[in-house]
Amino acid sequence: MNKTVNLAILASGSGSNAENIVRYFEGDPRIMVNAILSNKQNAFVLERAKKLNIPSSTFNKDEFNEASFIKKLENIDYIILAGFLWLIPKHIINSFPNRIINIHPALLPKYGGKGMYGDNVHKAVIEAGEKESGITIHLVNEEYDKGKVLHQSKCSVESGDTPEDLAKKIHELEHRHFPRVIEEYIQSHH
Ligand code: GAR
Repeated sequence: MNKTVNLAILASGSGSNAENIVRYFEGDPRIMVNAILSNKQNAFVLERAKKLNIPSSTFNKDEFNEASFIKKLENIDYIILAGFLWLIPKHIINSFPNRIINIHPALLPKYGGKGMYGDNVHKAVIEAGEKESGITIHLVNEEYDKGKVLHQSKCSVESGDTPEDLAKKIHELEHRHFPRVIEEYIQSHH
């Protein structure tokens, strides 16, 4: 990698993964987070961005679907979805072929698809009586949660676990693995 690889993070919620990724690459001359973008005006991730000194902005669905959205991604090499809840429109996927990486809080192909995010996923996993869950890090294509899997890791689901208990285990796995998987993927593809 000769020049710095620039990342934009898209996030809709708290942004613990976004912050963890920013901190992981801080001071790294090869990979840096240039922007945090959110579809939610009041998402806590925007406060994290301010504190971390990462430029941030918000957008609505119309803006997201317009061709001009790409202007927000000038100089960006990879898009990282860290708790981002909308389907990525075709025009963005076409501009970033194999350069959009998502994290999903379950072992895909199970518990994926539209509406499957955050606690909805954990509730469904517990209600189904699963003994294990985990995380999936994958490339993004035009369908929810269907792109090539880059990494999966597992955790146990104990009887009596609440969705909050499971979310905590999943977040630990996400924070441990997501930045490293992003780094390894970029290093081997750039
Ligand atoms: C994470 O658990 C992530 O896997 C999940 O949202 C959470 C965001 O947490 N993503 C999805 O459910 C996508 N379908 P965070 O805001 O603390 O990073």
